[in-house]
Amino acid sequence: MAVETKVSREDEFRQAEHEIYPPSPEVVAQANVKDYDAVVKQAREDLAGFWAERASELEWFAPWDKVLDESNKPFYKWFTNAKVNIVYNALDRHMKTWRKNKVALIWEGEKGEQRTFSYFRLWQEVNKFANILKSMGVHKGDRVTIYMGRVPELPMAMLACAKVGAIHSVVYGGFSVEALHTRIMDSESKLVITCDGGFMNGKIVELKKIADEAIQRSPTVENVIVVKRTGHEVNMEAGRDLWLHDLMNLPIASTKCETEVMDAEDPLYLLYTSGTTGTPKAILHTHGGYMVGIHTTLKWVFDLKDEDRWWCAADPGWVTGHSYIVYGPLLCGATSFMYEGAPTFPYPNRWWSLVEKYGITVLYTAPTAIRGLMRFGEAWPNRHDLSSLRLLGSVGEPINPEAWKWYHRVIGKKRCPIMDTWWQTETGMFMITPLPVVPLKPGSGTFPFPGVEAEILNEEGTPVGPDEEGFLVLTRPWPAMLRTIYKDPDRFVRQYWTKYPGKYMTGDSARRDADGYFWIIGRVDDVIKVSGYRLGTAEIESALVSHHTVAEAAAIGLPHEIKGTAIYTYVILRQGSVPSEELAAELRQHVGHELGPIARPEKIEFVTKLPKTRSGKIMRRVLKARAQGLPEGDLSTLEE
Ligand code: PRX
Repeated sequence: MAVETKVSREDEFRQAEHEIYPPSPEVVAQANVKDYDAVVKQAREDLAGFWAERASELEWFAPWDKVLDESNKPFYKWFTNAKVNIVYNALDRHMKTWRKNKVALIWEGEKGEQRTFSYFRLWQEVNKFANILKSMGVHKGDRVTIYMGRVPELPMAMLACAKVGAIHSVVYGGFSVEALHTRIMDSESKLVITCDGGFMNGKIVELKKIADEAIQRSPTVENVIVVKRTGHEVNMEAGRDLWLHDLMNLPIASTKCETEVMDAEDPLYLLYTSGTTGTPKAILHTHGGYMVGIHTTLKWVFDLKDEDRWWCAADPGWVTGHSYIVYGPLLCGATSFMYEGAPTFPYPNRWWSLVEKYGITVLYTAPTAIRGLMRFGEAWPNRHDLSSLRLLGSVGEPINPEAWKWYHRVIGKKRCPIMDTWWQTETGMFMITPLPVVPLKPGSGTFPFPGVEAEILNEEGTPVGPDEEGFLVLTRPWPAMLRTIYKDPDRFVRQYWTKYPGKYMTGDSARRDADGYFWIIGRVDDVIKVSGYRLGTAEIESALVSHHTVAEAAAIGLPHEIKGTAIYTYVILRQGSVPSEELAAELRQHVGHELGPIARPEKIEFVTKLPKTRSGKIMRRVLKARAQGLPEGDLSTLEE
């Protein structure tokens, strides 16, 4: 097995502890926050006052009684009894100012088509969409599943749901039948919004076909709205499926639509994510606190200004897209860019040509994309004028110092600071991150955002010393925090707040160096971050076991040069089935069909036994150690 040893990467990170990149005078001169120490101090001493000040930069229908209600921990509430709607701040509010005519969104399709929306136009389209939703009986609190490619109608659908007070549940367009089905069922969505297909890497992704298969077994779904993107023929079920463009032409789709008045704590969306065990869980975010959290973090960390052209190259189907493609930039009144396709289509310079063509000033992406593009060499980016860039960002997994330095030197021409933002679906907003004025170390997220407090603890809950690895926890509430796991408050308490009572357990391990810089090491649970995408071992294993030849399966993540982590699986076949290359290929295919291409294992190894505890739990840590030739640790609980 070609696995990189853990040690080499660790050394790379340790060396970077001694390299400091201070901000240039130009960066400091234009930073939205210049006195970093002062804001950190203010937030530390008066958390409620700090967030109240941030909240007053936005508009509320009615003010809050209390900034933070801690009376029922860990069910924290923010801005209690305030009335608000995030869409009012993202769109409606701008109709009263010059921003009405500002470009909100520039989109380019993989084939090179372009669409541009001013704030006014986007507001009108969202109003029309919202009126359609209302006419279909979608009301406050109803769940709507959105399963689309990266097209402008995706943010529009999300915003339209929020406008009428419905709760959207976006399922990443790279997921497949089973993943979509379980998410529709758990959320009990009555409406699904999808596309006829999407373009990715020159091919059509059959979104409607996958949705049909998933919906067939989902009795709650009454209607499906379909966006025409590819124009190829798809099945349209009479009485259930409707084309969006037909609906948008109906008189009911008026360009005026009242925005629903919501309580600050009313749900905005569900987003399914993989946890330690079992099925993916729906993280619940709300209108008020979430809005304040992402507005502040985007404005401060990426220093957004009216002149900027912001490009968050994630997918709207993940939390990064929710917070920083859809809601955050609109709350900031920014101009943002969205690209439909793959970074290397048709050539590895696609992204760099987009930066040049659209004059992108701030680019935010994932380490896996950087490592993937780095592999093609410097000639590709060097062909393009990247001088519009002034800030860069990274998210999703640790960025190794080598990739960080390449990004800094080749893309940022040593002028652009890199904001390495650590956060999670659950946190909703950046948690450990520099601001532009903070001196950087390659591969470190530096310090907690003002108002955020983090600790690194050992098993017993005592803080570890400098440079020691431990569990990363957050010790103070923040406004964009998840409020619960939808329909499962016990799991919410158990998963995040029980190991160290009163502290939020992140599921990551980390260390802090002698200068206090945080270095995220990685997940300590059964979550695997493949190319920055979050998957659970349980989902992969159950997809494998759903194949008729498989009796048992175990999935682990192992270091991978480009993907960060890759999925390795061990399979015990049922009696009568024989291991073969063909069967391994078929199983990989099967996982791809059930969950999506990102979940396809890198390798399937057929075995006759799996290491288990006496109570029958698979010891993935032992599999991991064996695969890497590392010490297997304490084996006292291993069954005979
Ligand atoms: O392990 C951490 C890693 O991604 C996990 C959260 O995944 P998800 O909920 O999908 O959200 C990803 C985008 C916010 C974390 O527990 N992670 C995220 N950002 C970083 C990171 N690891 C290291 N450095 C980061 N900047």
